Amino acid sequence: MAETVKYGIIGVGMMGREHLINLHHLRSQGVAVVCIADPHVPSQQLALELAQSFDWPLKVFSGHQELLDSGLCDVVVVSSPNMTHYQILMDILNHPKPHHVLVEKPLCTTVAHCREVVNAARKRPDMLVQVGLEYRYMPPVAKLIEIVKGGTLGHIKMVAIREHRFPFLVKVNNWNRFNANTGGTLVEKCCHFFDLMRLFAGANPVRVMASGAMDVNHKDEIYDGKVPDIIDNAYVIIEFDNGARGMLDLCMFAEGSKNEQEISVVGQSGKGEAFVPESIVHVGSRVDGRDGVQTLKAEDQRIKYEGLHHGSSYLEHLNFLSAIREKDAKAPAVDLQDGLISVAMGVAAQVSIEKGRFVTIEEVLDQHDSEASS
Ligand SMILES: NC(=O)c1ccc[n+]([C@@H]2O[C@H](COP(=O)([O-])OP(=O)(O)OC[C@H]3O[C@@H](n4cnc5c(N)ncnc54)[C@H](O)[C@@H]3O)[C@@H](O)[C@H]2O)c1
Repeated sequence: MAETVKYGIIGVGMMGREHLINLHHLRSQGVAVVCIADPHVPSQQLALELAQSFDWPLKVFSGHQELLDSGLCDVVVVSSPNMTHYQILMDILNHPKPHHVLVEKPLCTTVAHCREVVNAARKRPDMLVQVGLEYRYMPPVAKLIEIVKGGTLGHIKMVAIREHRFPFLVKVNNWNRFNANTGGTLVEKCCHFFDLMRLFAGANPVRVMASGAMDVNHKDEIYDGKVPDIIDNAYVIIEFDNGARGMLDLCMFAEGSKNEQEISVVGQSGKGEAFVPESIVHVGSRVDGRDGVQTLKAEDQRIKYEGLHHGSSYLEHLNFLSAIREKDAKAPAVDLQDGLISVAMGVAAQVSIEKGRFVTIEEVLDQHDSEASS
């Protein structure tokens, strides 16, 4: 058995505890969670109870710096609120002890902060950093990626992703109710979909046009005298540098949907569709027409825990663990550049809604560069 890889989790709210449970399901692969950091006592308590039930002794810290200084772990999972990622990542990357990092999406809430993190990471070749864009691992999505990469659909021209779901959940101290904390809805949750569009299109974004608003949810909520400002529905169009087009259709007051995500990818010669959580993929060709469309059930036998994201967190950890074990041979599957571009696309979409016009990715990257240097 290989040496145990010791993990620390920074932020043990809903997602941090999800990581804890996933890592427990990987225990036979030689992993253990040995410490956590979270300032919120009820979150600490819930994580401690879980760890006790797993027979994992856990050292508890209230801040990430103490966790890093303790030297107890080799890998840190950053699952604290979005607006804390930047400082926590900079402190990890500047710490004398190397820690491999799995940081939850979005990498940071602004492009300028993402860039600083990317630059700081360049100086730490002793550390691997993976970004938690885990939708890539959902079995029907992974199957569709495999089909697209296999080339049977031809050159991809159109990628449409519809997410119709329930409203944002309540979070610790309601951090997710304000753009300043999340980066905005199109950064916070839609970075997942922008990441997938880049993968399917096999290209980088050039410009973005969006329309959206907070039309239904959160209007009657007030926190410290302020009404939330996060949009709950949007249409976003993205043009890619190889001529492909993407479209996102987001609705967060659509509990009455059979699927939460419906993804359609059309190439010159065929079309593929993925449905989550039905876990089904359709694939067809122009030559064979409707009668030739195949329906495939997407499954991944490696998944030992489905959790909140259809097994994708489990596969994400499995993948990152193998990158850690094969360090020097294997780069993280989802790297900092993927994290940065997915945030830039979300920021461009948020700015487009504000300004009512197309926003180029270059504009977002340049503008945020000059903000960072001023
Ligand atoms: N991959 C996914 O699909 C997915 C799903 C949900 C959330 N997330 C991401 O996970 C992160 C956490 O979200 P959540 O839903 O668990 O929120 P949450 O509010 O349930 O938990 C956040 C926890 O972080 C703690 N925290 C706050 N500031 C901290 C700090 N400076 N250091 C350490 N801990 C701190 C809070 O006390 C809380 O316990 C966010 O970045 C979110 O975007 C990802």
